Amino acid sequence: MSTTRRALLGALTALPAIYSRGWADDATSPAQVFRKEADPITAADQVLNVMEFERLARKALPPAHFGYIATGADDDLTVARNHDAFSHYEIRVRRFNDVSQLDTTTTVFGAKWSSPLYLSAVSSQRAFHTDGEIGSARAAKSRSLQMMLSTGTSASLEEVRDARGGPIWQQLYPTNDWKVATAVVRRAENAGCPAIALTVDLPGARNNETLTRALRVDNRPCTGCHIDNSHDMWRRGPMFKGLDVSKVDTLAPAGITPKYLDQLRAIVKGRLIIKGVMEGADAALAVEHGADAVVISNHGGRNEETLRATVDCLPDVVAAVRGRVPVFIDGGIRRGTDIFKALALGATGVGIGRPQVWGLAAFGQSGVEAVIDILNRELTMIMRQAGTPTIASITSAQVLRSGA
Ligand SMILES: Cc1cc2nc3c(=O)[nH]c(=O)nc-3n(C[C@H](O)[C@H](O)[C@H](O)COP(=O)(O)O)c2cc1C
Repeated sequence: MSTTRRALLGALTALPAIYSRGWADDATSPAQVFRKEADPITAADQVLNVMEFERLARKALPPAHFGYIATGADDDLTVARNHDAFSHYEIRVRRFNDVSQLDTTTTVFGAKWSSPLYLSAVSSQRAFHTDGEIGSARAAKSRSLQMMLSTGTSASLEEVRDARGGPIWQQLYPTNDWKVATAVVRRAENAGCPAIALTVDLPGARNNETLTRALRVDNRPCTGCHIDNSHDMWRRGPMFKGLDVSKVDTLAPAGITPKYLDQLRAIVKGRLIIKGVMEGADAALAVEHGADAVVISNHGGRNEETLRATVDCLPDVVAAVRGRVPVFIDGGIRRGTDIFKALALGATGVGIGRPQVWGLAAFGQSGVEAVIDILNRELTMIMRQAGTPTIASITSAQVLRSGA
C-alpha cells in the first residue's frame, strides 16, 4: 500500500474518534469545538474576536465586578437586543470599485480620527484591571482613538488626559446639585476637554438583577476597596475630589428638561454632546437646545428593559437631526460589520462600552488595543468586500433591513 493511501485510510479511521470527542457527543458546532481546542489564550493577540474577550474577562474578574460589566436591567433583554438587531441588517456589496487603497479616517468636530470607532464612557475601570482608565487611555493613544471619560472614573481626569496625550471628551453626570455640575464642567474644560457629554438616560434607580445575583455569590469583603462600603461615585470618585458633595444624593437629576439643556449650554464653552437619546423627537429637541452632537444610546441596556435596539433608532434620529450635527451611536457593537452598518445608516462615529473593559480586564492596555485592532481590522475587511474604500463612500445603499 502506498504511503499516501495508508495516510488517507489512517485519517478516515480516525474520524469517528473526532466525532465522538466533539460534535456528535455534545451536539456543539465545529466552531465551538475548535474554540475549546484553542484554549488557553495567554496573550491578547491570540484572541480571535471581541466576544472571546467577554469569556476571558469573566475568568479574570471576581463575580461582582464582572456582574457590574455584564448587567442589564431586569432580564437583560435590551442588552441582547442591541447586538442581535445588527443581524437584521444585510450588507449590499458592489464588485467593480477600486478598493486597493482603504482609508478609515474620518473628521469629527474638525479633528481627524483614525477610525469612526471611539471608547465610550465606562466607570470604575480600576475594578477591572490595575491599569484602569490609564490603560484605556494609553490604548486610545497608541491607536489614535477618541476617548470619552466617565464622571465615575477611578483615575483622575488629569492623569487620564496625560496618558491619552490628547484631548478627551468628558462624560457628565451632573448630580442633583447645580454647583457640583458647574464645578465638574469647569474642571474638565480647565483640563482641556473640548467636549462635555451629558448623559440623559438615567433619571432614577435601575433594576440591575444580574449584578444583584453576582453580588450574592461574591463573598469577598468590599471594604478593602470601597470606602465605608460605599459605591456612590460622588463620595469616592476622583472627579468630585475637593467639591462639597453634601447635597448630592443622585448622579443625574430627574428633571433634565429643555430648560436644563439651555442652562447647561450657557456654561459649556466647548462642544455639548447629549448621550442617551433614542427618539428622533428628542434628538431634534437636543439640537434645538444647543447640542453639538447626539449619541443614540440606551446605556448598553443597563437602565431599561425591552427598549428598541440602538441601531433600529438610527434612521429616525438621523432624519430628525437633518445633518445639523453628528449622530453617534453605541450599544451592541461587537463586529466590524456592526460599525459598517451603523455608518451606512447615517452614524458619524460608533462607541464601545463593554468590549473595551473586557479587553482591559483580560490583558490591561494590550487587551483594549487588541479589541480596537480586531474591530478596525474587521471594518477594513468589510469595506473592501463591499467596494467602499472610504468612510464617506459607505452610504444607505450598502445596507438593507432584512425582509424590506
Ligand atoms: C460597566 C459599565 C459602566 C458604564 N459607565 C457609564 C458611565 O459612567 N457613564 C455613561 O454615560 N455611560 C456608561 N456606560 C454606558 C456606555 O458608555 C455605553 O453607552 C454602553 O456600554 C454601550 O453599550 P455596549 O456595552 O454594548 O458597547 C457604562 C457601561 C458599562 C458596561
